[in-house]
Amino acid sequence: MSFKLNILVGTMTGIAQLVAQEIELRLDAEGIGVNTMEMDELDPMVFDREGIFMICTSTYGQGDVPDNAKDLYEALCTQRPDLSHVRYGVIALGDRTYAETFCFGGKRFDKILGELGAQRIGEIMLHDASAGTLPEDEAAEWIEGWVELCNENIGREAVLDAAQN
Ligand SMILES: Cc1cc2nc3c(=O)[nH]c(=O)nc-3n(C[C@H](O)[C@H](O)[C@H](O)COP(=O)(O)O)c2cc1C
Repeated sequence: MSFKLNILVGTMTGIAQLVAQEIELRLDAEGIGVNTMEMDELDPMVFDREGIFMICTSTYGQGDVPDNAKDLYEALCTQRPDLSHVRYGVIALGDRTYAETFCFGGKRFDKILGELGAQRIGEIMLHDASAGTLPEDEAAEWIEGWVELCNENIGREAVLDAAQN
């Protein structure tokens, strides 16, 4: 089974972009079409696209989303579109030195997407910059299990659709 993946990147210094590139390389090799987009080009209509979504974002300020993600995040909070058709995953980059707001950028997106009816696939991947591991390496390993969960989800929905029609 295969699907399209839309990666939405929120970043300040480009690390989340590196993570997205690594995932794109891996999944392209597995025949999964990946489309990576910087969040500053986007509005909530991006969620009308075909496929599954991956929020890949860091955290700044006092647990805020990065500057290039602010417009999209705020538009979701104010426009509150129905996203019940959306399936998504989250890769949240942060640093445990900021103990009170660890990975809040990704967690904030997860919260608003959940409130708007979207369904997360799998757990959030949390990366701690103070741990000394490279987020792109961790993500490359983590994405394999996440893709399996996506395939299971698609299979389950196909069975449900067939039963309803
Ligand atoms: C000024 C500043 C503020 C930050 N604030 C937080 C924070 O509140 N919580 C957190 O988990 N990480 C925080 N971080 C860590 C970044 O999210 C982390 O280093 C991330 O890997 C950066 O990725 P990027 O290059 O894609 O923006 C902060 C980093 C900086 C430089």
